[in-house]
Amino acid sequence: MGKDKILFDDGTHKCVMFSIDDESHEESFLAVNQFLLIQNGAGIVIDPGSAAIFHELCEAIERYIPLENLRFVFFSHQDPDVAGSISEWSVATSTRFVMSGLWTRFMTHYGVLDMERIFALPDKGIKIPFGEGYLQFLPAHFMHSPGNFSLYDSQSKILFSGDIGAAVMPAMSAYKEISNFESHLPYLEGFHRRYMAGNIFCKAWVNSLDKLDVTMIAPQHGAVFKDENVQKFLEWLHGLKCGGDLIENLY
Ligand SMILES: [Fe+2]
Ligand SMILES: [Fe+2]
Repeated sequence: MGKDKILFDDGTHKCVMFSIDDESHEESFLAVNQFLLIQNGAGIVIDPGSAAIFHELCEAIERYIPLENLRFVFFSHQDPDVAGSISEWSVATSTRFVMSGLWTRFMTHYGVLDMERIFALPDKGIKIPFGEGYLQFLPAHFMHSPGNFSLYDSQSKILFSGDIGAAVMPAMSAYKEISNFESHLPYLEGFHRRYMAGNIFCKAWVNSLDKLDVTMIAPQHGAVFKDENVQKFLEWLHGLKCGGDLIENLY
């Protein structure tokens, strides 16, 4: 059973985080978050995850809005824990799909037949009106996927960051909001050092956020960063050596 966490709600605009896992593991596990943005009754799903949680996620969404009110499902990248359910979504709903243009041609391998339902984001991303504000698809390439996007919602000021900020936490300490960045850091380090492609991309992504007012970063795994922890995380990521910077450990 998922645990809903309301990240933002001003009456007309709402963001819900679901944390539905398809199985539990004893040692450590990669807790998965799925997100629903609602604006005047219309919804957007962010990173719906694998086929194993599809039905439970639909039930969770329908506690807030009917599935036919979904405008689109956004996939930050192509991984199975993000997009593995796209075939189920394509059969059970008539909603559209938004993802990097790098990954659209691979979706037939997940079982998607109607490619006209997929909107391919260009590398630089796009900005679209949404309610009183806008949604911006921000380039996050090689963080970690070669075609990867973060999504910024100007009304809630939440940045949905996909695997950026993902934490691999022991099940016992799977809290959903970070209270102390320093004690959370061990759960971030290993994942980011290996799964991010290099410091040049970390810096580019962090610098690209300069013009945005971000009060929360909501990753696909682990816990959300709020207020001062947003800046602490961005500073840490900006200086992180990872991926290709550590090539001598790999070859
Ligand atoms: Fe991923
Ligand atoms: Fe992931």
